[in-house]
Amino acid sequence: METKKRFLTGIQPSGTLHIGNYFGALKPFVDMYEEYESVLMVADLHALTTTQDGELLRKQIVDVVKDYLAVGVDPEKVVLFKQSDVPEHTELAWIFECLVTVPFLMQAHAYKDKVARGMEPNAGLFNYPMLMAADILLYDAEVVPVGEDQRQHIEYAREAAGKFNRAYGDTFTPPQEKIMKSVGVVPGIDGQKMSKSYKNTIPLFGTPDEIQTAVMGIVTDSEGDRPENVYAIHKLFKTEEELAPVYEEHKGRYGDLKKILIEDIESVIAPMREKRESITDEEVAQILLEGSEQAKAVTAKKMEEVREKIGTKI
Ligand code: ADP
Ligand code: TRP
Repeated sequence: METKKRFLTGIQPSGTLHIGNYFGALKPFVDMYEEYESVLMVADLHALTTTQDGELLRKQIVDVVKDYLAVGVDPEKVVLFKQSDVPEHTELAWIFECLVTVPFLMQAHAYKDKVARGMEPNAGLFNYPMLMAADILLYDAEVVPVGEDQRQHIEYAREAAGKFNRAYGDTFTPPQEKIMKSVGVVPGIDGQKMSKSYKNTIPLFGTPDEIQTAVMGIVTDSEGDRPENVYAIHKLFKTEEELAPVYEEHKGRYGDLKKILIEDIESVIAPMREKRESITDEEVAQILLEGSEQAKAVTAKKMEEVREKIGTKI
């Protein structure tokens, strides 16, 4: 029998997506998840370190699941669930917290950055890496695709596995990060990195009007034949060979090129938007419920072994 490697990633439910998220995170996931035995987890408990708005969190959880389904994730081919439905995650996180030291957790960049910016960090933020270690190690995930900013968190998971294995004997598989850098940075309409915090985005599931407004607002202060900020975004939707004759024909006519870009974006996004609109909240709830049952089958077994080793099972 063919054995596929186990692949797991977590996504924070954090609001409206833009095309930078699509090319930087969603599309790479869709392009590779079928090669593995895949687990996709909505990290709603991690989101609690920064959100105290229940209505908003509930909406964002449903939204992020719809987003992934709309871009092509097939719930039959992945275990898709939310973290809070599988209580073994928090149980194992606590066990790791009792194995690592406070100075070790104080080295975390995400924690140090917030302290350096004068924020009062909550204890959840401090313990964040151990919950993430539990997310990964419970499933013996070998491959963990994440952005560069998450590299250190995977090191923490390896450390947690090592500490547990040394204390109680071989139990957890040390995971390997898979840093996603295939597309590089998608620029925003002002030429800087596209980011919701810079308000320079093209929304992924925006209405045709919203997309049009965003594209017409692309800053074009270059003077050559080709508006570089328009071209940089266009390249994501069409190959350079396809674009060459278009940019030759419309040399210097920036308005026309933007209109062509709007059409090209629309032809990629429209089917996904339609798919997204067809997914109901009830379907999302059902998919998450089934996913949590599949996840629990794995974690129940793993935690039996852990409880046996640490002595809480009598
Ligand atoms: P934002 O910068 O809008 O807050 P997030 O930090 O929530 O985006 O990023 C979510 C995911 O999308 C991450 O995996 C990140 O690497 C990817 N991503 C975000 N912006 C871009 C971009 N401009 N280009 C490529 N990938 C991006
Ligand atoms: N911390 C990750 C992020 O903000 C999300 C996450 C939670 C995760 N648990 C995970 C990613 C486990 C990979 C594996 O992007």
